[in-house]
Amino acid sequence: MRIDAFDRYPLLFGPSPVHPLDRLTKHLGGARVWAKREDCNSGLAFGGNKTRKLEYLVADALAQGADTLVSIGGVQSNHTRQVAAAAARAGLKAVLVQESWVDWPDPVNDKVGNILLSRIMGADVRLVRAGFGIGFKESWQQALEDVQAGGGTPYAIPAGASDHPLGGLGFANWAEEVRQQEQDLGVFFDTVVVCSVTGSTQAGMIAGFAGQDRPRRLLGIDASAKIDETRAQVAKIARNTAELIGLGRDLREDEITVLEGWAGDLYGIPVQSTLDAIRLSGSLEAMIIDPVYEGKSMAALIDLVRDGEIPKDSNVLYVHLGGQPALNAYSGLFQ
Ligand SMILES: Cc1ncc(COP(=O)(O)O)c(C=O)c1O
Repeated sequence: MRIDAFDRYPLLFGPSPVHPLDRLTKHLGGARVWAKREDCNSGLAFGGNKTRKLEYLVADALAQGADTLVSIGGVQSNHTRQVAAAAARAGLKAVLVQESWVDWPDPVNDKVGNILLSRIMGADVRLVRAGFGIGFKESWQQALEDVQAGGGTPYAIPAGASDHPLGGLGFANWAEEVRQQEQDLGVFFDTVVVCSVTGSTQAGMIAGFAGQDRPRRLLGIDASAKIDETRAQVAKIARNTAELIGLGRDLREDEITVLEGWAGDLYGIPVQSTLDAIRLSGSLEAMIIDPVYEGKSMAALIDLVRDGEIPKDSNVLYVHLGGQPALNAYSGLFQ
């Protein structure tokens, strides 16, 4: 594995914490549930899964002599907030295209939470009307051209830092971090549950785990309500990342699992199981999860344990990818 050969710009505190969720485990009657907390991984503006990916992209941006990170996401994007944070820490500028991916009626949706934090950190935040989509966007191209026209040197970061040659590295490295934590804790996580939307979080994990001796089940839970696109994106990035880190073999189809059934009809809109999962996780474990991503993957974990799909003797690792700032735009759901 050649992952150490890639430069990283340090943004993390160190390994993200792993801890058991004993009250949730008892409530469900087994399997034993643990959490790995990407929401507690850095001092950068509440952290989250993008921070780990951005360590590699920011190093690349600096190596290329860029002075402005240009990225894109929804109005309440956790990703763009972490780009703003990484830019601030690295002494770069940030231009953020915030599209109206979610038709959400909360009157303060474009004022609180993630977008508020990005503004505080000095990012140039641009609100654009356009629907949900993780592919190439004209508004993003325009922002890149604007930076160039102003004499700057932009560095393009796609939605979720995913469809980028280095996008999978952060979580390929994370897989090794898990292996070391398992050794320290004397436990093996036979099942890992993670939310998937733009794909490089799960894809990096797939590539990283594929190089380990002991096989385990990695279950991606789609939260985009576009399962075919999510699967294709995860598979593509996983294969690219595997090649990049020198895995030395093709990934098998059974190593790439993305499940549907908990996203509801639309990205960004919670369904009843999402809200139940948020309340359960909060009331039993004081572990706060959001209505866009983590509430959906936790709803899946709960169902999979209850249905016996994840057996009672399993040690299951729930990967908490962050996202709590967006809760501020969803207060109406919890009155
Ligand atoms: C909190 C949170 N969870 C999960 C995800 C999904 O990760 P990915 O886009 O890498 O699939 C994201 C970002 O999209 C996120 O912000």
